[in-house]
Amino acid sequence: MQRYDVIVLGAGAAGMFAAIEAGRRGRRVLVIDHAKAAGEKIRISGGGRCNFTNLGVGAERFISRNPRFALSALKRYTARDFVARVDAAGIAWHEKTLGQLFCDGSATQIVQMLLRDMAQAGCELWLGCALSAVRRVETGFEVDTARGPVGGASVIVATGGKSIPKMGATGFGYRVAEAFGLPLVETRPGLVPLTFAAQELDWMQPLSGVALPARVSCGKTGFDEAVLFTHRGLSGPAVLQISSYWREGEAVVLNLAPGVDVAAFLRGEKQAAGRAMLRTALGKLLPERLARHVEAQAGVAGPMAEMGRATLDQVAQAVGAWRLVPVGSEGYRTAEVTLGGVDTDALDGRSMEAKGVPGLYFVGEVVDVTGWLGGYNFQWAWSSGWAAGQVA
Ligand code: FDA
Repeated sequence: MQRYDVIVLGAGAAGMFAAIEAGRRGRRVLVIDHAKAAGEKIRISGGGRCNFTNLGVGAERFISRNPRFALSALKRYTARDFVARVDAAGIAWHEKTLGQLFCDGSATQIVQMLLRDMAQAGCELWLGCALSAVRRVETGFEVDTARGPVGGASVIVATGGKSIPKMGATGFGYRVAEAFGLPLVETRPGLVPLTFAAQELDWMQPLSGVALPARVSCGKTGFDEAVLFTHRGLSGPAVLQISSYWREGEAVVLNLAPGVDVAAFLRGEKQAAGRAMLRTALGKLLPERLARHVEAQAGVAGPMAEMGRATLDQVAQAVGAWRLVPVGSEGYRTAEVTLGGVDTDALDGRSMEAKGVPGLYFVGEVVDVTGWLGGYNFQWAWSSGWAAGQVA
């Protein structure tokens, strides 16, 4: 049986980063993935430009049973550290918005950088190789693979979450955790479009393609970003963000004109141009199709001069606090991330090693640490992978 110092399960962002670090320390590293290519999610990320980190990393931007757990790794390997590596590789980048850093060119540059670093660090990579089990043995661990069993002093589990099964997501890492008696926090799709019942879709579908900046809230949490109406319901960054906080049965509240006192605006419009239709006034705040929809929903016709204050207040309420109850989400099929995972209580935050199972590490999305949209999830993959790579 072939033996290695470190076997990394999964050649995604976290696994490749952990492998590079362990390899640079002189460890003999094998990385195994059942996919045909490494870093497939990196390749398609950020619309093909990879939003590889965010300059605003902080505990409040991560969802976990213990959001402070992630801080140790995030502080030891920071966004600036990753930027320095991207710079050293000669990859041009830009800040798009909200601290989000993207490649100027293509996300494949990041994949190529990681593959090159892995090769330079002497890491071996087995692609197209299925994994079936991990066992503890006297010398460390044995991993059952499609190429037969391999032995490793340490195993780093970096198989990600359940999001996008079509791309090879399996939930294998959760099974490994369970096999070693580690607790799991219930998993659910995150950063995912929200779906609606037929009665809502009847009016939403004609709005499909309409996008606008808005504030979307659920309980006390809210995000100011774009909202997009689709033929299934709501999407766009603000909706993806809130989906990670939304639970079945809850409402989401849309403010379609954040920062605007809509009631005062409508009163002003009525005074200035009383003969104008409501949709014309609303069209100064909203895309035309949406303005027409709000007018129709309000059941009003005729010029604004004929509308009383109560009617205008009602319209303002519809624009500023539009309450909608999703029936669900598009699920793991399109979710960018998986919330939940290996309970952080079971891991050492400095090394990502499982407490009570020396030599077994969990990094990246398989852990119960999920970032907001905007580069936070890759930063978690780099930071947690880096932490494990220092010690495994
Ligand atoms: P990741 O899922 O990347 O890697 C896991 C690897 O394990 C995969 O290569 C998989 O094939 C392999 N594997 C799984 N099960 C296996 C098994 N049973 N046997 C063998 N191998 C197995 N984040 C961000 O910060 N900025 C962004 O721009 C984006 N954009 C984005 C777009 C889209 C469409 C998605 C789906 C996701 C994003 N993300 C993102 C999220 C980001 O991609 C994600 O958080 C990281 O890829 C997680 O890295 P991991 O290495 O933990 O898992």
